[in-house]
Amino acid sequence: MENIKWITVKNPEEGAKEVFNLISEELQHDRLHVLGLATGSTMIPVYDEWTNSQLDFSNVTAFNLDEYVGLGADNPNSYAYFMKQHLFSKKPFKATYIPNGMAEDLDEECKEYERKLNSNPLDIQLLGVGENGHIAFNEPGTSFDSVTHVAKLTESTLDVNSQYFENDDKIPNIALTMGISSITNAKKLIMVAFGEKKRAAMEKLKSGEVTADWPITKLLRHDDVVVITDLQID
Ligand code: GLP
Repeated sequence: MENIKWITVKNPEEGAKEVFNLISEELQHDRLHVLGLATGSTMIPVYDEWTNSQLDFSNVTAFNLDEYVGLGADNPNSYAYFMKQHLFSKKPFKATYIPNGMAEDLDEECKEYERKLNSNPLDIQLLGVGENGHIAFNEPGTSFDSVTHVAKLTESTLDVNSQYFENDDKIPNIALTMGISSITNAKKLIMVAFGEKKRAAMEKLKSGEVTADWPITKLLRHDDVVVITDLQID
């Protein structure tokens, strides 16, 4: 696919260095003011690379993709907690936004988040992918035109993500998530996928077929995408 630049690396550490180089270059050229961030185990080496560096995000506003409904920032299973632990407590940003899963009016929270995104267009969105091809919490079948919304998680995602849950907490089955359209409005997308469990999603992307059954394939309609993976996809 011509719109996608594939970078194949040996391991996650090497992949994290590739992300670092891309981010560092954009910062140096003053092209990075608003950065979309992601959570998940894939992002841990990525953020480690940033926090062990001189990268300066003090003029960058960050937006996270998603959050579980019902988990606050002080809950170790929330994405707000993850971001604080792995990045925000170590690197200052100009401002950071994460959808509030504790909001009383979830629809209003989503609308407000989308309004903020519209007034701060994303220069780069960093993305991981779910085993079923979801991006953020946009599960298979989600409209490509979706904006920030309340999403119901699939059994497959609940199964995979509950492995990381601490304190015997039950994983919420709904979340707030940027929509597929909110994500692909970013000028540049950086997708990171490590390990065999992501092979099906990577193969689907490589196949070139755009289908709502695999949300990741919406990336084929974007004109500036970099995929960094340790999988060899033919
Ligand atoms: C969650 C997040 C996604 C992330 C995915 C992959 O479902 N909502 O944004 O891409 O996990 O997580 P991991 O990196 O742990 O494989």
